[in-house]
Amino acid sequence: MRGLIPDSFIDELLARVDIVDVIERRVPLKKAGREWTACCPFHNERTPSFYVSPAKQFFHCFGCGAHGSAVKFLMDYERLEFPDAVEELAQTVGLTVPREGGREAAPREDKTDLYALLDAAAAWYEGELPRNADAQAYCRKRGLDAETIRRFRLGWAPAGYDGVIKALGNTPRRMELLNEAGMVASSERGSKYDRFRERLMFPILDRRDRVIAFGGRIIERSGEGSPAPDARTQDARKSDGPKYLNSPETPLFHKGRELFALWQVKQANPTLARIVVVEGYMDVIALHQAGLPIAVATLGTATTPEHTEVLFRAAPDVVFCFDGDRAGRAAAWKALESALPRLRDGRQAYFLFLPDGEDPDSLVRKEGKAGFEQRIRDAMPLSDYFFNELSHDVDMASLDGRARLAERARPLIAKLPDGAFRDLMAQELEKRSGARAVLQADPAAHRAMQRPTAVQRSLVRSAISLLLAQPGMADQVEKPYRFLRLDKPGVELLAELLDLARARPGINSAMLVEHFAERPEYPSLQKLMAALAVGELEAQRSEFFDALARMEDQAITQRRDALTAKSREAALDPSEKTELRELLAARVRPPVASA
Ligand code: GTP
Ligand code: MN
Repeated sequence: MRGLIPDSFIDELLARVDIVDVIERRVPLKKAGREWTACCPFHNERTPSFYVSPAKQFFHCFGCGAHGSAVKFLMDYERLEFPDAVEELAQTVGLTVPREGGREAAPREDKTDLYALLDAAAAWYEGELPRNADAQAYCRKRGLDAETIRRFRLGWAPAGYDGVIKALGNTPRRMELLNEAGMVASSERGSKYDRFRERLMFPILDRRDRVIAFGGRIIERSGEGSPAPDARTQDARKSDGPKYLNSPETPLFHKGRELFALWQVKQANPTLARIVVVEGYMDVIALHQAGLPIAVATLGTATTPEHTEVLFRAAPDVVFCFDGDRAGRAAAWKALESALPRLRDGRQAYFLFLPDGEDPDSLVRKEGKAGFEQRIRDAMPLSDYFFNELSHDVDMASLDGRARLAERARPLIAKLPDGAFRDLMAQELEKRSGARAVLQADPAAHRAMQRPTAVQRSLVRSAISLLLAQPGMADQVEKPYRFLRLDKPGVELLAELLDLARARPGINSAMLVEHFAERPEYPSLQKLMAALAVGELEAQRSEFFDALARMEDQAITQRRDALTAKSREAALDPSEKTELRELLAARVRPPVASA
């Protein structure tokens, strides 16, 4: 979604808003030198360690590490997704958010109509529920109380082919909207009929409490299990169809990113330490009703990376809950894969497997709130699940088996964002697989996994960090960048940042970093920016240019050593010889800063 908002707009927006204003409206700030300060809104504290820098348009908490731009503040504070935070900020300064790709821009009004129509549909289904005895009996049988039915706006889609159509589609325009909202289906002959008939209706809300879709469950009137499909006719309208029927993808509904009951969870918890993902609507509802309003569900799809991001936005700990059967295990592994790239430090994923034949609905009814909470507490940390799963069918006693484990684990660990957790996982792999030898079988992957030594790393990193503190310095760096010859992680990123800053004079730190919002480097950049939230501008300046000079020196040394080493084993070609002569003549400054 984020991709649809042009970068240039985010630039303009961040140039127009003042982060001090944005935060001040929500958290009273006090002036402290060049910065503003307050008790941090993201953790409990008595003395202020939360700083807002007007120059950098950036906030940072020295207590809990929260940091970012005005957009990021709104996302964290108001728990908004990126596009919504942008939208909200834009409104405060009278800007309209443009959308790339055109198609998205035009039907804005139509969407308002769509929301209104879906809300009316939900209200209509809600009103039908008390009027149908079978539906009422089913709710009782499933143990749903009146408060739960109200809170989830459960409803009933009556029999017949034109209930919703008659109630809501009384003009051609509204008929068109019903169609766009996925509420009607078309027969082969082109006539429209209600998609949901004789189903218990579960409205799916977005994160602003708007109805965007429905799930509908058939109910069994006698006995149990799904009724057999009607064998006598091929006509979909006559068969009972699947147990659960969901709205199709529509302009408002994208299964891959919506979570059932996220709104209810956010309503019930001003702050949330942990969120639980279960498989079914009824599981979510049972948990909420049992006093655990921390459960959401994917909508009959596997967990996607987008889901995972939404989940981690909601809470730092995410517990994935699955059936213990094969399908459940497969789904859990998918969830793990989708979580890996999102697991930056501070976020944790857990896996909870249920006993055979149980689901959260049945379990919480049997074991109560306390019982289920205990299961949540006992959930398996991602790292345990990861290594158990990868080594369950290999012989860990043999070298071969351990090599296999390493081979499987390596590319997955590489997906983790740079940080302490990735280091721990890599160490764990080394420990389990009998280590380095195995990793070194693949030098490229090995290099990627190994952290550069502290000194080298801090040089490139501190250059980036310093540039982020004062993007204006980019103007004074000569092109071509000579430090680019240095073969070290981060060098190209530094060049990219310099180019960006040169191309946009006056860009502030937050704007610069926001350009990387969708890139894997984003969290690291935010951290690097936070590292220098407060400091002496002049000292930072000279440190920056010194760091660049030292990188150039290192590049010379690196290349010289490589050529010298090569010359010992084989003859250098003439151009290499010339290069080496020049390199040997080049003066490299002593490794201590002299600026
Ligand atoms: P109950 O039987 O009502 O307790 O539901 P459940 O949640 O236990 O059902 P189940 O474990 O069978 O399914 C879990 C989730 O998968 C449901 O909540 C649906 O989202 C989805 N699902 C189940 N059956 C179907 C189906 O036939 N079609 C589709 N599209 N989704 C389904
Ligand atoms: Mn169930």
